[in-house]
Amino acid sequence: MSQTISMQPTVKISPFGTTPNGDAISSYTLTNNQGTQAVIINFGAILQSLKTQDKNGNFADIVLGFDDLESYLTNPAYFGATIGRFGNRIGNGQCTIDGQTYTFLQNNGSNHLHGGAEGFDKKVWQAETVSDENSAGVILTLVSPDGDQGYPGNLTVKCEYHLTNDNQLQIKFTANTDKTTVVNLTNHSYFNLKQQGTMLDHLLEIPTAKLTPVDENMLPTGEIRDVAGTAFDFTTAKPIGQDIDAKDEQLKIGGGYDHNYYFDKADGELSLAAKTIEPASGRVLEIYTTEPGFQLYTGNFIGDDLSGKGRQYGKHAGFCVEPQHVPDAPNKPMFKSTLLTPEQTYTSEMRYVFSVVK
Ligand code: BGC
Repeated sequence: MSQTISMQPTVKISPFGTTPNGDAISSYTLTNNQGTQAVIINFGAILQSLKTQDKNGNFADIVLGFDDLESYLTNPAYFGATIGRFGNRIGNGQCTIDGQTYTFLQNNGSNHLHGGAEGFDKKVWQAETVSDENSAGVILTLVSPDGDQGYPGNLTVKCEYHLTNDNQLQIKFTANTDKTTVVNLTNHSYFNLKQQGTMLDHLLEIPTAKLTPVDENMLPTGEIRDVAGTAFDFTTAKPIGQDIDAKDEQLKIGGGYDHNYYFDKADGELSLAAKTIEPASGRVLEIYTTEPGFQLYTGNFIGDDLSGKGRQYGKHAGFCVEPQHVPDAPNKPMFKSTLLTPEQTYTSEMRYVFSVVK
């Protein structure tokens, strides 16, 4: 597909439907001076589309998603969504903060998953655009009230998307609370760099071989395990599907990869989480994060009934690398804390970096 490329990064605002409550939703199309294009909607602060070049200069949309707002109102697989207040699982839908026990919706067996029935992926965010000669962006803000989905404290959240001329989509989160709460924000984009079929043939490289294994309820056991030499070892690039059916107790529990990798690094240091190459198109995606780890999720439960952008989705249609703290950290004191006090500011940054190999 050819497109006209302007020298200045641009932001274009278009209508994207109306919610059942009557909120008008817009899409924000960010285009950089190389023609890379990211579309964000202010429902769920969702990354709806991401068009990057292949080795022949052809643009294609490399994220799973839908064409209309109606589909995003349910969005059962969380395509492109901003996840909060707490990404991933809180065991038994409960945790204790400052001596008080809080109860959350159990929407994943007995676990609380991705912030509840009306998590940040289902909220209407306020949006304002920003751009300069090097980048185009949109800044989304949300006030999650005290008691929202059971969480304590009024939480003011900011999610910024900036598409830079050097082909990075930077996502920056900040949050402040007026009562101690737990926060673990992430972006839940699913990638398929060839825009069709499954992504099992993409080459994946993950620099760390440390993992937090899970029990049969998908909750971390508390162990940090060295997985060098196992199916979970991606320290040397290999196809995502190469070992996905290996006889491995952890793969069996997850129905594929659905696990948190863990880094040993200084708090807040930006580092490479994962690098993916799709050999046919030559597209390369690198994902950086300041978080101490990330969930590798190979789309094991994407329903065959989901379709969008002229595609039928299904199992392994895309993969996610979701930067975050260790799941269930509110109940697992051996892991880095996810508590946010009124004196602190939560910050987290991730980057999707695009390039090609011939
Ligand atoms: C979780 C999966 C879950 C999926 C929902 C991922 O972040 O790790 O277990 O099924 O989100 O789309």
